[in-house]
Amino acid sequence: MTAHIIDGKAIAAEVRAEVAERVAALGGRDVTPGLATVLVGDDPASKIYISSKHKACAEVGIRSFDHHLPASTEQTELLGLVEALNADDDVHGILVQMPLPAHISEAAVLDAVSPGKDADGFHPCNLGRLLAGDPVVVPATPAGIQQLLLRSGVDTSGADVVIVGRSNIVGKPLAALMVQKAPGANATVTLCHTATRDLSAYTRRADVLVVAVGRARVITAQMVKPGAVVIDVGMNRTEAGLTGDVDFEAVSEVAAAITPVPGGVGPMTIAMLLANVTTLAERAAPA
Ligand SMILES: NC(=O)c1ccc[n+]([C@@H]2O[C@H](COP(=O)([O-])OP(=O)(O)OC[C@H]3O[C@@H](n4cnc5c(N)ncnc54)[C@H](OP(=O)(O)O)[C@@H]3O)[C@@H](O)[C@H]2O)c1
Repeated sequence: MTAHIIDGKAIAAEVRAEVAERVAALGGRDVTPGLATVLVGDDPASKIYISSKHKACAEVGIRSFDHHLPASTEQTELLGLVEALNADDDVHGILVQMPLPAHISEAAVLDAVSPGKDADGFHPCNLGRLLAGDPVVVPATPAGIQQLLLRSGVDTSGADVVIVGRSNIVGKPLAALMVQKAPGANATVTLCHTATRDLSAYTRRADVLVVAVGRARVITAQMVKPGAVVIDVGMNRTEAGLTGDVDFEAVSEVAAAITPVPGGVGPMTIAMLLANVTTLAERAAPA
């Protein structure tokens, strides 16, 4: 079997076109959605993420505001900036780029962002709504994975969805999303991690296998059920360039469909961030 390649770039372009239409409709109501990003320090990867988010905003008509603070910034100063952005009517979404320097509590900063401006969907209030099945905004990477599946015609209802990796930004919110009794979900979800005994026993039973581990080629062809759909979230910088967590070549011979790295989940994450900012602007706009 040679797997169908799920084209994240093309599906993300579809999502961005839909977002651009919603932004244009908001323009008719005199509202321009605005995203404020906050970067603390000079982490090169974070700088690249921030600049690609600003570029993507511009392409769909979302205004973006760039706040770059030195690594020595005190937590109180950062919280002060977040408070000012919470009160700024031009800002509909706030994104504080993680990781933050060690002397700043990420939880305190995530808590400080107003839930109504929480572009990443990481505020406990928005995570709670997701768990309860009534989300406003969903963290961008899990939301993007769900859209990849939906728009590729993968039926997850009753499917065994196995997620490897339980981070707060990917694995846990994806599990909360896929377990809902809702379209694009309704799956039997298993969440695996480093304490999982016999990982292969779980991955081999997956109809949909999502891997968010951060280790190149941790998933081999022997770990995948023939005909499975494989979503590779990993982004590992290796000597061979950017690679995912899945042994792409070998697994492509076993799976029915697979996402490439790059060009799979990554473009969807940015597209869903734009969708979240637009949703928050729609909710904030006077009727
Ligand atoms: N494409 C995108 O848009 C996007 C977005 C986010 C992240 N990523 C990428 O996705 C990867 C994961 O990132 P993350 O932030 O979600 O993860 P993370 O916070 O680094 O956590 C990794 C998770 O994988 C588990 N794990 C590690 N090695 C394992 C193994 N050998 N077997 C089973 N489980 C294992 C860990 O288990 P424990 O909890 O037990 O330690 C942990 O839950 C990274 O490569 C990251 O760059 C991509």
